[in-house]
Amino acid sequence: MSDAETPAGADQPPATSSKPAVTKSGSDAEPKRPLKIAILSRKASLYSTSRLREAALARGHEAIVVDYLRCYMNITSHRPALIYQGKELTGFDAVIPRIGASHTFYGTAVVRQFEMMGVFPANESQAIARSRDKLRCLQLLAREGIGLPVSGFAHSTKDVQGLIEAVGGAPLVVKLLEGTQGIGVVLCETNQASESVIEAFRGLDANILVQEFIKEAGGADIRAFVVGNKVVAAMLRQGAPGEFRSNLHRGGSASRIKLTPEERSTAVRSAKSMGLRVAGVDMLRSNHGPVVMEVNSSPGLEGIEGSTGKDVAGLIIQYIENNAAAGRTRDRIKG
Ligand SMILES: Nc1ncnc2c1ncn2[C@@H]1O[C@H](COP(=O)(O)OP(=O)(O)OP(=O)(O)O)[C@@H](O)[C@H]1O
Ligand SMILES: [Mg+2]
Repeated sequence: MSDAETPAGADQPPATSSKPAVTKSGSDAEPKRPLKIAILSRKASLYSTSRLREAALARGHEAIVVDYLRCYMNITSHRPALIYQGKELTGFDAVIPRIGASHTFYGTAVVRQFEMMGVFPANESQAIARSRDKLRCLQLLAREGIGLPVSGFAHSTKDVQGLIEAVGGAPLVVKLLEGTQGIGVVLCETNQASESVIEAFRGLDANILVQEFIKEAGGADIRAFVVGNKVVAAMLRQGAPGEFRSNLHRGGSASRIKLTPEERSTAVRSAKSMGLRVAGVDMLRSNHGPVVMEVNSSPGLEGIEGSTGKDVAGLIIQYIENNAAAGRTRDRIKG
């Protein structure tokens, strides 16, 4: 996951920067009624968390950062409750989950508890869980006919040659499913190299993804930030010279980019097929149009605000203002 708020899943530039010179684009509309918003995050000082809180306060709302691992739940019929710092959490209109990749299980349970209390979530617990499972995510995108790199999944097949042929042969990218920040993502130039890498991963008892190498992407990928039915900001991440992985942690750099209409609609459809209202959609520019690598449910704000100058946090708060209503937590996606 490229989710920002987890040390294990961060794909953000090094935390050197202070706030970006964000434009006022997200803050033009006047706030409606003041809302009480919970931001679920391990730490108030994380960039995305503090920006969301700041944006909520600037628009006249109350915003409280809740460390979801320190909440406990009271699962009683007709009266679901959440207790934090010795007090029951009550009266919230909306919740913004910023769940770290390593805490999906407990984090989504806390989001679900808010949903049961009638609180509007920026992303639903089901949608977060769905997108966190990379294979499930690719399967659902494929079902919608969204462009993907030709991909094969395996755990411990003996038919390594068959797997390589199924995705069109070398050059291939082999990925450890549990990898992040580009670690466990290997480019194999020949079938022989692919075979050795797949066998080595098999020895580790790991789930792997074998993918066609999109050479023409030129070591760059696109992050489209979706809020509601729109791409609100997009950046191009370019890998360091000689590096096919664009991860900012591997020395990549981010810049603002204008997307094609096809890229925009691919990003919006991808978020929709996961049931996500707020999503970071990672795509590669291939010869046959955009192909989606991943859809993130807690996309970081630092890289995208820093490279585009947009007030993405403000746009998320505006989206909540326009949509938060008790009971609007129905998830309509199957699977
Ligand atoms: N099939 C591919 N063809 C070309 N380049 C790829 C391909 N898959 C991945 N890459 C490059 O490698 C980078 C890392 O891959 P990926 O995003 O899948 O793994 P990760 O960043 O480790 O995981 P996560 O995004 O889940 O944190 C991508 O950002 C992209 O630049
Ligand atoms: Mg990535």
